[in-house]
Amino acid sequence: MESPVFKERNELKGLLLSGGTGTRLRPLTYSGPKQLLPVANKPILFYAIENLRQAGITDLGVIVGENARHVKERLKDGHELGVQISYITQKQPLGLAHAVKTASSFLQNQSFVMILGDTLLDQGICSFVDHYRAVNPVAAVLVSRVKEPEHYGVVRVENQRVVQLIEKPKSFISDLALTGIYAFSPRIHEAIESITPSARGELEITDALQWLVTQNEEVIFQIHPGWWKDTGRPADLLEANRLLLHDQKPCLEGYADPFTRVTGNVRIERGARITHSTLIGPLVIGRNAHIEDAVIGPYTTIGHEANIKRAELADSILLDRCQIDGPIRLSRSLIGRETVIHKTKYEAGWIHLILGDTSRCDL
Ligand code: DAU
Repeated sequence: MESPVFKERNELKGLLLSGGTGTRLRPLTYSGPKQLLPVANKPILFYAIENLRQAGITDLGVIVGENARHVKERLKDGHELGVQISYITQKQPLGLAHAVKTASSFLQNQSFVMILGDTLLDQGICSFVDHYRAVNPVAAVLVSRVKEPEHYGVVRVENQRVVQLIEKPKSFISDLALTGIYAFSPRIHEAIESITPSARGELEITDALQWLVTQNEEVIFQIHPGWWKDTGRPADLLEANRLLLHDQKPCLEGYADPFTRVTGNVRIERGARITHSTLIGPLVIGRNAHIEDAVIGPYTTIGHEANIKRAELADSILLDRCQIDGPIRLSRSLIGRETVIHKTKYEAGWIHLILGDTSRCDL
């Protein structure tokens, strides 16, 4: 049997980063943090929490910034999600390493897994965390091959070890990008104390890792075998929506009348009511939404209590309680909560819109 001391030493905490500003997702982030935007009708942050819980990590610190109130209202003490949450306020988003520094009294002298709150991936993180637990190195990073490495932190590897890391490199050193999922021993705190802010004025976790590598410490990596998305921009959110809807479990908890045609992977949530419409999966229609005379899908998320009439909607995310009254054809659109769109004249072309919460749009 494992000794309690050994168990204690092996216990991992989780650190989830939900600070930052979300400027690239404005106007949607004027009224709430990007990490709470729903993809396939679930806030992005919930996926990270589920991943940590599945990997056996339930003692979580959540870094919050200017949008702390929204995150706290949504996650509460974590009980409903099967975890315990301690909130840690980072007054300014001064970098990922700064966030770790801010969390030092929560983390104490324990190893931890850190996830950036805007990260989505398939297949979870169990294999990464198991590997970290088995090897017990100073740090581990989950990486993914990307086409545009200049937008990420990248790692160069040799013989199963990380030998160089650079944040947003100007010239090519590797196509392996940091996914925003890391595992650290307490040695990371010493590394963070040893670095200075980068050119963008942030204390970079990438620089702290590079410091460990320079000290000849063992930093290991795992290449994520499936898809991974940093949901920083509208196009990324829509792509994550497509990927998650593609993998979702179909269900029919709401009501579709006999005049409605349903094909493909479709989720109709409790209390939703669909009449005289065509549903082309993959798609999800949220709780108590009403859809009438519409063509929905593919790759479309309709939020809870939305009300849609005379509309064709494809490849889009509509948040809770939005109202659309057509005739209108919308694709590649992100529509905020309680937004009202009203159109009176039919036009054959598709419209693409990005609208923040409670907007009103008469077309
Ligand atoms: O998406 C992966 C990339 O994430 C990595 O490849 C990079 O190495 C890593 O630095 C990071 O780069 P970004 O420029 O995308 O980081 P961003 O500023 O978007 O912040 C990532 C998350 O962390 C986001 O959910 C906001 C949160 N955050 C960010 C900062 C700077 C905080 O909670 N506090 C902060 O101080």
